[in-house]
Amino acid sequence: MLIQNRGDLTYADVTPRGLYMGRRNFLLGALGTYGAVALWKRLPGWMAGAVTGSVPRPLGNLVPSPFSTTETATPAGYVESYNNFYEFGTDKADPSRNAKNFVTSPWTVSVEGEVAKPRQFSMDEILKLAPLEERIYRHRCVETWSIVVPWIGYSLSNLIKLVEPTSKAKYVAFESYYDPRQMPWASKAGIQIPYLEGLRLDEAMNPLTLLCVGMYAETLPNQDGAPVRIVVPWKYGFKSAKSLVKIRFVKSEPLTTWDMFRGFGGMPEYGFYANVNPHVDHPRWSQAKEHRLGGGLFARPIPTLMFNGYGDQVASMYAGMDLRKYF
Ligand code: MTE
Repeated sequence: MLIQNRGDLTYADVTPRGLYMGRRNFLLGALGTYGAVALWKRLPGWMAGAVTGSVPRPLGNLVPSPFSTTETATPAGYVESYNNFYEFGTDKADPSRNAKNFVTSPWTVSVEGEVAKPRQFSMDEILKLAPLEERIYRHRCVETWSIVVPWIGYSLSNLIKLVEPTSKAKYVAFESYYDPRQMPWASKAGIQIPYLEGLRLDEAMNPLTLLCVGMYAETLPNQDGAPVRIVVPWKYGFKSAKSLVKIRFVKSEPLTTWDMFRGFGGMPEYGFYANVNPHVDHPRWSQAKEHRLGGGLFARPIPTLMFNGYGDQVASMYAGMDLRKYF
């Protein structure tokens, strides 16, 4: 992977995606025929991928992470064009189309609540807070698709230590950005927006919990949660709130968007813990298997692993808990 030394850039230095598009155009050119290019342009957004995407820029000084899986990363086009980001529409292809002009600079994240040192972090501060790691994680959506993504970021614990949670802080609540003018689709999404998520403090402090500023060696595309999101690899994807603006330390379990969601028959469909668990089905479908995106038309579903395969690092946090009750 090409890693450039661009650590001196500030977040506002958005480079037009010349390099990236250049690479793509070169590949397209190499296809050789006008017909092939015309076909590519006619592919739906989710197949054409980043051709319809935003303007991420390269991130430099990346260090490899001991937490990375050795599995092959999903081609970026899938990760950038098959998304859940209800603020930009509920269809998987909507976010890559509708988030193109999302304004993500300037940006601040407010860290508040039960902490000794509440403060606001600018994106430049967030980018420099700890060395940026490339972490290749499995990412499992509750809807049974999965991807393998080389995320960029560092353990959220780095930021948490700076604000010094008090002894009253037991949970961490995350809030995503919401601007009805930029996200008119949100009012029809059928879920509570601003998007709210939460973790127990020990889960948030677990080194695997990533404060994520990029993927595939670039800043995050808008549809994947630019400019900063959470990634919690042993939990279903919905726990990983995108486009974060607030992190609040609280005494009791915070209400989340999906806690509030009532599905078929008014029943809650998604629990607070949401640990990936092949033995606990969703009320409407099995969680035993998953479909890896990009595996080809004839790829078979693969077995889902307990804690998405991260049990060695996280299982001890749930010792003695009934994971059927706390699903
Ligand atoms: N964050 C916000 N703000 N809004 C959302 O709709 N969707 C969640 C999560 N974070 C969502 C969100 C769900 S359901 C999933 S599966 C993941 O984002 C998808 O992340 P990805 O599109 O980068 O794969």
